[in-house]
Amino acid sequence: MNNNIIKKEIEEKLIKQVKETRYKHVKSVQSFANELIKSHKIRNQNIIENIEIAILSHDLYRDLSKEQLLNLADKYGIIPNEIEQTSPILLHGKIAAEYIRKKYNANQSTYRAVYFHTGGNVNLDIIGKILIISDNLERKRDFKNVSSLREVSFKNLEEGFYEVIKNKMKYALIKNLPILKETYILYNKLRGEKDV
Ligand SMILES: [Fe+2]
Ligand SMILES: [Fe+2]
Repeated sequence: MNNNIIKKEIEEKLIKQVKETRYKHVKSVQSFANELIKSHKIRNQNIIENIEIAILSHDLYRDLSKEQLLNLADKYGIIPNEIEQTSPILLHGKIAAEYIRKKYNANQSTYRAVYFHTGGNVNLDIIGKILIISDNLERKRDFKNVSSLREVSFKNLEEGFYEVIKNKMKYALIKNLPILKETYILYNKLRGEKDV
């Protein structure tokens, strides 16, 4: 199936399935990602289109109820971990990833980007990194150090990714939220790379 048709279909499903504010967030993630793509001179059309597919689908299931999420996880054979059992909302990315793989045969890199967009993962490439950075730093986001994180991300994508993950860790600690295993493993890896 042609990528334009895939994007159109996903966007239609998104409009049907999420609240208006969520839809606006996704559009805002799209425009922030476009800013990053331009400023880092990413020209590979295949990568650009897969970033678009990942962005349009990442929050497709974000506004579903706990029961709906648990049912869908079951349908796709996703076994919720302890944290996801308590907070099924954390499953929304995994479900969306399974959906685009099954329905559109999404490639591994796009699948992973969507699957791990909430907590990150050590195996993410440019698609996953741009999705996570844009999801957290889109122009509607407003938190204390958001502008400095944006600045870093425009200068250096890897550095921006590290800072966004670090910020996720800080936020979880301050709010007394659990930290996903993938997130702290990723944080340690990125931190280690910085020291070298
Ligand atoms: Fe999300
Ligand atoms: Fe999002």
